[in-house]
Amino acid sequence: MLKTQTCGELRSEHDGQSVLLAGWVHRRRDQGGLIFIDLRDRWGITQVVVNQETAPEAHAVASGARNEYVLQVKGAVRIRPEGTANDELETGAIEVVASEIVLLNAAKTPPFYINKEEKIDEVERMRYRYLDLRRPRMQRNIILRHKIVKFIRDYLDERDFVEIETPILFKTTPEGARDFLVPSRLMPGHFYALPQSPQQLKQLLMVAGYERYFQIARCFRDEDLRGDRQPEFTQLDLEMSFVQREDVIDLIEGMMIELSEKVAGKTPLIKPFPRLTYTEAMEKYGSDKPDIRYDLTAVDVTDLAGKSGFQVFVDNAAAGKPVKVIRAPGLLRGKEDPTKALSGEGLKRLMKELEDLIRTTGAKGLAWMALPLEENGEVKGPIGKFFTVEQKVELFERVDAQAGDILLFTSDKRETVYEVVNVLRRHLAEALGLVDSDTVAFCWVIDFPMFYWNEEEQRWDPSQHMFTSPVPEDIPLLDTDPGAARGSQYDLACNGYEVAGGSIRIHSRELQEKMFPLIGQDMEHAREEFGHMLEAFEYGVPPHGGIASGIDRLAMVLAGEPNIREVIAFPKTQKGADIMAHAPSEPDPRQLEELYLRVVVPEEEQEQ
Ligand code: AMO
Ligand code: AMP
Repeated sequence: MLKTQTCGELRSEHDGQSVLLAGWVHRRRDQGGLIFIDLRDRWGITQVVVNQETAPEAHAVASGARNEYVLQVKGAVRIRPEGTANDELETGAIEVVASEIVLLNAAKTPPFYINKEEKIDEVERMRYRYLDLRRPRMQRNIILRHKIVKFIRDYLDERDFVEIETPILFKTTPEGARDFLVPSRLMPGHFYALPQSPQQLKQLLMVAGYERYFQIARCFRDEDLRGDRQPEFTQLDLEMSFVQREDVIDLIEGMMIELSEKVAGKTPLIKPFPRLTYTEAMEKYGSDKPDIRYDLTAVDVTDLAGKSGFQVFVDNAAAGKPVKVIRAPGLLRGKEDPTKALSGEGLKRLMKELEDLIRTTGAKGLAWMALPLEENGEVKGPIGKFFTVEQKVELFERVDAQAGDILLFTSDKRETVYEVVNVLRRHLAEALGLVDSDTVAFCWVIDFPMFYWNEEEQRWDPSQHMFTSPVPEDIPLLDTDPGAARGSQYDLACNGYEVAGGSIRIHSRELQEKMFPLIGQDMEHAREEFGHMLEAFEYGVPPHGGIASGIDRLAMVLAGEPNIREVIAFPKTQKGADIMAHAPSEPDPRQLEELYLRVVVPEEEQEQ
């Protein structure tokens, strides 16, 4: 080894020991006869002192060194002189007095600071990802991710799970996204599809009798990217036989609690994890992956508002469209001085901003009432006058309104109301400072509808995938009212992200075959795509179920990061590109020839 110790290791008990360190120059202070170098590696930072008188050669190397040079330092540990210890560094009690320094490599000036936290242009970060990954914050994230995966492997191994790899070159898997295709050279004109998940294969492993399977699986989905999505991502994929919903939920809940506490050092806000039905989640939070770190729940006031004098609400209530209120606590209070209400101008600006925000959902307006700070003040807002004093009292009681609150009213078709509630909650939580990135709050969402109606295609789409079983008592509804059937799906949300999702599966061929016509697939096509599954279903299938958790998303919330890219070593940009290595790229024409492929790009796409 070119080093005997790491840069994070030395303490006062090493006083007098001779050591060999190697790492990068994190910072250098040249005081003439003395040069101080903070030497950094993955484990930490150690201060090196170089004295011109006692080590002239080392001093010469140190004076030529710059940030990010790679050095090897030979020297002796000593306790730092009185008053110079640094409590912020773990090695801050000691320093290493250099006797020899070897320059292992020089470095160009990096395009951004590695030794301090500051906003860096995202394109630069991706272009020089190896430098970005050198930053202590990124190293913490990447190492946390390693620990998460290691913990999961050990946890499952202790419980008799077997890790089994499944192929990457496979065929279409029905998770609802677009497939990535890979042309086959040996079978011209044929393509593999990269798996969107190992769903079918893990079910076949249950047929094969493994009973408890897991895999840290790479998945590929060609869909539009967002802050919590990548085209290539990693799942903890898991399947169990002879289990019911509770068994899978218990296993995963236990794992998530230990993972949060032992690996990330964060205790989940509520234990055991609260459970919401899909309908409850949508009605209260407007989302099937609610962020329950803060309250801001929507309260239904359709009955009350329907009796007010505000025509929009009266008409909507009569038409079965809900009216909901979100109480924004203290939103009327000034930012600088919370004992004073916002000025007329300030309030107008605030409400315009909120209204612009909710209009992105297609909602028609955002009515509001502001409760005055002073005791007998007027309720402000455009619709106060349409409610009698008694109606207002009842309303304020129902939403538990306090002085300085603003009540936000939304009324529209149900889906739009959900969206408004979701958008408002997320926005208000930020604006009111209610989000704490150090808190993790998990909750289960269950009893999803089995299907969503696809208006465009005039068919039912599975809300999870076609292998999810209906809850047993709803099986008859498949024939009479599919829209009312609940699936046996369960999702785990954390801090507003879906971090896992799974279900109890269909294990009878008869029931599985019933699914295809419902989701608009003819049997012939179904046999072509999923014949192997249907066939396997004739050879003794155990009742089974499972779940998959997005490791990237999980690492993101456990690290308290706002974007999935912060926990992936080499992620893709919004356009699905790697701008460091320039992928995707144009292949050599000979490669295309070998694959019998010709590329036809329409003119308008060519610039991109
Ligand atoms: P699902 O499609 O819900 O279920 O995916 C499971 C989990 O994977 C994560 N995830 C993603 N993470 C990053 N980028 C993406 N593009 C992305 N897509 C999904 C989420 C999600 O909860 N086979 C089923 C699971 C099962 O039924 O067992 C499946 O893949 O955290
Ligand atoms: P108007 O009477 O049209 O001026 O609207 C009075 C207030 O009600 C305004 O603040 C509108 O933004 C709001 N509003 C209008 N339609 C709706 C609706 N469907 N839901 C909630 N607020 C609305």
